[in-house]
Amino acid sequence: MSETSFTPRVFSGIQPSGNLHLGNYLGALKRFVDWQDRDVESIFCMVDLHAITVWQDPVDLKKSTRELCAGFIASGLDPEKSILINQSQVPEHAQLAWVFNCIARMGWMQRMTQFKDKAGKNAQNASLGLFAYPALMAADILTYHATHVPVGEDQKQHLELTRDIATKFNHDYGIDFFPVPEPVIEGAATRVMSLRDGSKKMSKSDPSDASRINLTDDADTIAKKIRKAKTDPEALPSEADGLEGRPEARNLINIYAAMNNQSVDEVLADVGGKQFSEFKPMLAELAVSKMSPITTEMARLMEHQDEIDKILSRGSERARAITAPILRKTYEIMGMVPPIEM
Ligand code: TYM
Repeated sequence: MSETSFTPRVFSGIQPSGNLHLGNYLGALKRFVDWQDRDVESIFCMVDLHAITVWQDPVDLKKSTRELCAGFIASGLDPEKSILINQSQVPEHAQLAWVFNCIARMGWMQRMTQFKDKAGKNAQNASLGLFAYPALMAADILTYHATHVPVGEDQKQHLELTRDIATKFNHDYGIDFFPVPEPVIEGAATRVMSLRDGSKKMSKSDPSDASRINLTDDADTIAKKIRKAKTDPEALPSEADGLEGRPEARNLINIYAAMNNQSVDEVLADVGGKQFSEFKPMLAELAVSKMSPITTEMARLMEHQDEIDKILSRGSERARAITAPILRKTYEIMGMVPPIEM
């Protein structure tokens, strides 16, 4: 199955479930902007239908969706260049997800580690939507025939499932219809870790607010969280090998590298030999200089919610020009009788 016969198109999404954090920014948002600037057609999505796989308070969901859209724009996404959408406004996502529920196998879904983590010990009480979550994610991507999907490392398994679904559909119907998309997991910050525990991913659901830098944190809070970040007593190494077995040191260096558009080796060449007492203020200064303008711009945009709503409506209109024909063709391939013009 050729992966190159499709025009390059980028798709990615983020859940509007609050606490947009530095991991989302470095692992996803910042990299979305890189793609946009390469002039590849790109679609970026607030995945509200994914968010409701666990309980969302309706008032909070609305606010988080708009805040996420503000975060996209404040991070540098241009709604004229990229298509910015709210998932529930583009019905083809959910429609194609149903098709993919019928393509994906139970065994594939049962292997998904994120479901196991999120459902925890009480899997019987998890929503059916949480189980089917990755099929909706495959639909998000494939309803645009997207070829490249920039994500953090934690989404790798879902992307592999998306590839399996595309391949099985094409095989079952004997047609090269869906591209087999490439996960793009690159850069120094594909897995930003908690500031309190270098073995845990930075996450919106960590009960400790000090574990993450939120995109809504002000400059003082950012600097304080970095000052208090867990470290070890050794000086920083001059080469990446020296980060072995030092997860907190590795994490702070990765964050610095990603924020400053440098490689880990370049950063260590500069800061090797320094104590954390010297490095942390450098990191805090860098983080504040990069993040504060985003926080300020997000707050400004949130004062113009009607503008945000317009951007999302316009985005979904542009999106549907792509998704509706692809869904129509999918149904046709599968043998659904189409409506006739009357
Ligand atoms: P979500 O909302 O959990 O996270 C959004 C993006 O942020 C990345 N990310 C991180 N990257 C580095 N370090 C971290 N600590 C960190 N935490 C989160 C995630 O990898 C992701 O790229 N299922 C997806 C949303 C989704 C999607 C899609 C993504 C729905 N449909 C289609 C791509 C394509 C999710 O829950 O991401």
